Amino acid sequence: MKFFIDSADIEEIKQANKKGWVDGVTTNPTLIAKNGRDFHQTIKEICKEVSGPVSAEVISTQSEEMFKEGLTLAKLADNVVVKIPLIEEGLIAVKKLAAEGIKTNVTLVFNPLQALLVAKAGGTMVSPFVGRLDDIGQNGMAMVEEIIQIFRNYDFATEVLVASVRGPLHIEQAALMGADIVTVPYKVMQGMTQHPLTDKGLKMFLDDWNKLGKK
Ligand code: E4P
Repeated sequence: MKFFIDSADIEEIKQANKKGWVDGVTTNPTLIAKNGRDFHQTIKEICKEVSGPVSAEVISTQSEEMFKEGLTLAKLADNVVVKIPLIEEGLIAVKKLAAEGIKTNVTLVFNPLQALLVAKAGGTMVSPFVGRLDDIGQNGMAMVEEIIQIFRNYDFATEVLVASVRGPLHIEQAALMGADIVTVPYKVMQGMTQHPLTDKGLKMFLDDWNKLGKK
């Protein structure tokens, strides 16, 4: 399973990359706005830091504009993936970008049928948002399981990118289901390393070692 970091913060991305946790990056307009720096410049910097795919999202909602924006974003670096929202106009743009050999990541997916349409349109990746579904009392990971099943049934090449991840359990479930990619905020990545028995065990080992040293 590939690990993407869900962030537009270059320092955070560098930290995670040092630890080998970054096979790619996803950004969105909210993350870019939070970062407060120029969009294109930020994407270029991230693409220099990371060799894997870096998703940059269009903000138009009409297919022709989305397509043009996609072409511009794709020129920023070789590893840019154009992120497109799941609306009818977006699917048209995905098809056109695919015909130009440009990779896409279709975002804001909340049910398996939307994901099926992404695969039919030739999207490279599809991003089901699990946390936001959980937030409204639905089961985000059940949606992912169904998407994976549908893609397997028909051998679709579109990769399932589990997004809107809230905690380590989402990642574990995604791995067990065989999702291709999970995109994770840095804080959640750090949480994956934690276990109280690891800390307790390490303390015990070091205490015992130090006692030996004193003899
Ligand atoms: C993914 O590409 C999105 O940027 C992200 O996972 C959205 O997560 P959120 O629901 O925590 O905003």
